[in-house]
Amino acid sequence: MMELFARGKLNLTLDVLGKRADGYHDLRMIMQTVALADRLTVAEEGTGIHVSSNLSYLPCDGRNLAARAAEAYFAAAGREAPGLAISIEKVLPVCAGVAGGSSDAAAVLRGLQEKYNLLSKDALQAAATEIGSDVPYCLAGGTMLAEGRGEVLTSLPPMPETVVVICKPRFFVRTPMLFAAIDAAKLRCHPDTAGALEALEAGDVARLARRMYNVFEDVMPAPRAAVIAAIKKTLIDGGALGAAMSGTGPTVFGLFADAAPANKTAARLRREYRDVFVSKTV
Ligand code: C5P
Repeated sequence: MMELFARGKLNLTLDVLGKRADGYHDLRMIMQTVALADRLTVAEEGTGIHVSSNLSYLPCDGRNLAARAAEAYFAAAGREAPGLAISIEKVLPVCAGVAGGSSDAAAVLRGLQEKYNLLSKDALQAAATEIGSDVPYCLAGGTMLAEGRGEVLTSLPPMPETVVVICKPRFFVRTPMLFAAIDAAKLRCHPDTAGALEALEAGDVARLARRMYNVFEDVMPAPRAAVIAAIKKTLIDGGALGAAMSGTGPTVFGLFADAAPANKTAARLRREYRDVFVSKTV
């Protein structure tokens, strides 16, 4: 049996550059892995690919990205998949902008590659891209610039280890709807990606944190935008160096120079929100 950890990602910046002919959008985003992770086990067992999880509402059929990753892995290798039992202990918030599902898929690809070693690096990357736009990043991890659909990756200077408070409000977000909202909107603000890259180069977390921004914050429907703004305000009032929404949301995070104010702010957020985590960048 294999034990795998699927770490979450945060968008330090997220910019949408335009809509493409294939229906996807060209993106430019600085991605960062956090220690907070789902735990998966994969065992060779029985026939077919079976997924189970500790969350009753998580789909365990072919819609589950971990199952799709296992299928894609053996399909790409031109081999029949062995019987696999994949169990997912969910820690990362679901449908929340922290790439929980994509990270589970990447962990399965990584685990299967370690065990069976059937694919070249390029073929593994291609299988990841087929599963979802964030999966190639999750496979690589660390501090990266992601462009194209999200699959064109450039390694960046690793972000110095930083405490992060992560808070998911109670509502869910439908990613395609937010992309449609972006198409209909005239974006007034864009993240200072170049400035953020310079700050990373200098290893200056405070400067980086001040440059964090996500264009999807601007197209959140009104009552929800107010919740996002309120969480950001609580984070900043609590001493965060900067705060932003991750992915298409609704998860919001703040970077902190020290653990003490982070823990205090997390305690304050927990009075109102159930999904609040203190973690760190890796
Ligand atoms: O690639 P993935 O399946 O994760 O994307 C989910 C949805 O998000 C797509 O169907 C599309 O509506 C939107 N998307 C996009 N441009 C991207 C990534 C995702 O429009 N670069």
